[in-house]
Amino acid sequence: MTVKERYEKLKELVTERKAEFAELMSFVENETEYLTAPASTRFHLSREGGLLEHSVNVCENMLRLRAALAPEISEESCVITALLHDLGKVGMPGRPMYIPNQPTAKQKQYGYGPSVPYHTNEKLTYLSVPIRGLYLIASRFPLTEEETQAIVYHDGQYVDDNKSVATRECPLLFLLQYADSWSCFVTERK
Ligand SMILES: [Fe+2]
Repeated sequence: MTVKERYEKLKELVTERKAEFAELMSFVENETEYLTAPASTRFHLSREGGLLEHSVNVCENMLRLRAALAPEISEESCVITALLHDLGKVGMPGRPMYIPNQPTAKQKQYGYGPSVPYHTNEKLTYLSVPIRGLYLIASRFPLTEEETQAIVYHDGQYVDDNKSVATRECPLLFLLQYADSWSCFVTERK
């Protein structure tokens, strides 16, 4: 199955807030770089479509963790938070966060691409990736409190900003955080 096919299948699992989700995803897909952005400038999946592939990986891994550990957690919440946890990486409509680098004359001559595929857009007002994601989602979609916590703190204790959530994580956040780490450091490293 292609990444796009896996993605379309996952979106169908959102049923309770189907109309609102369709509207949100129409904005995400048509007005932001979500379908084409890389997942990073130079690390995991730093290529066109990398963000979508990463989001799909996280979503599938999160559903596996849910099935094994916590089937009582809403499947829909897993899909929404997994697919959109890194939405902040798109930047703003019309102002992408990741801009492709051009190869040097020498790299061009020898048929190589640039050594670092993308750089970060300096013209964006600084917001952390989770906060930008929340900014883009919250005015368009009725997130639950747990979904908001999961998106905002999904990097867990890797990030100093997240100290305040320590010991107060909801199960949805743990599922998302582990699925994200597993996808970055195991699935996508293969
Ligand atoms: Fe991620």
